[in-house]
Amino acid sequence: MEIAKTIEEVRQKVADWKKSGFKIGFVPTMGYLHEGHLSLVRESKKRTDRTVVSIFVNPTQFGPNEDYQIYPRDLERDQKLLLEEGVDLIFYPPVEVMYPEGYKTYVEVKELQDQLCGRSRPGHFRGVCTVVLKLFNIVQPDEAYFGWKDAQQVIIIQKMVEDLNLSVKVIPRPIIRDPDGLALSSRNTYLRPEERKAALALNRSLDLAAELIRKGELNAEIIRRRMLELIEQEPLARVDYVEIVDLKNLEKVEKLDRDVLIALAVYVGRTRLIDNLRFISGEVEK
Ligand code: PAJ
Repeated sequence: MEIAKTIEEVRQKVADWKKSGFKIGFVPTMGYLHEGHLSLVRESKKRTDRTVVSIFVNPTQFGPNEDYQIYPRDLERDQKLLLEEGVDLIFYPPVEVMYPEGYKTYVEVKELQDQLCGRSRPGHFRGVCTVVLKLFNIVQPDEAYFGWKDAQQVIIIQKMVEDLNLSVKVIPRPIIRDPDGLALSSRNTYLRPEERKAALALNRSLDLAAELIRKGELNAEIIRRRMLELIEQEPLARVDYVEIVDLKNLEKVEKLDRDVLIALAVYVGRTRLIDNLRFISGEVEK
């Protein structure tokens, strides 16, 4: 396994592999890896000949009052985990390599970027799309793997790939959870023990939604209200949003009569957590 810090090193390596006819898989991350990230790596290992993982805490996707400075970082640990998974190349660029002085170009996916998390994190998806497009151009993978944990990110990146005629295939993968149901996130490290318990309200509210759907409830507002009631019983939790939206355009739906995303963002203490389930072709995916 090699660690590349420059774009040239990555290009050289990938060009060699492509000459040998190898299929390239890519997992973009911000590091501080957990089983969610590693599940994406394993899928890439299964489906392709060479796997590239990027570790880059992308400043342009953080708002001015967000956690860019304190976002957890541990390269040594990440390196060890990726070596164990048999990753072929880590791309670990310094900020100046990705955003040299005078950097000017940004990518936006209109409308989709303003819904859900975009409402409380203006500019977030502009930063995500910009860095992901740059990474796709640098790595030139055949396939890239993203977790449904960040459902809006998946949908926006799929749209960017479609609209800009990129040749990469985007492969969304299931959410990996702790045994008690909490979706894994690098940000879970911010939670104090009592907050960690309170954070289970997100998963519980999704379980409630799944159960209501299973019993035949298709009214979005009824499901949403029940989820809100459940979360509001948790004193350490403060809801940012609970929404039931069309899985394609992220617009609110009244009835679950198509593929939908049930997504929520909740502050637990000062930590903002997200989770979701999808209702696709009449089946709940969580
Ligand atoms: P990061 O939060 O590090 O996540 C990297 C990838 O891991 C994303 O595709 C995310 O959805 C996936 N992931 C995170 N937690 C997961 C879980 N519990 N189960 C399954 N997959 C999970 O998302 C980003 O970084 C950044 O926005 C990035 C795409 C790298 C651009 O900077």
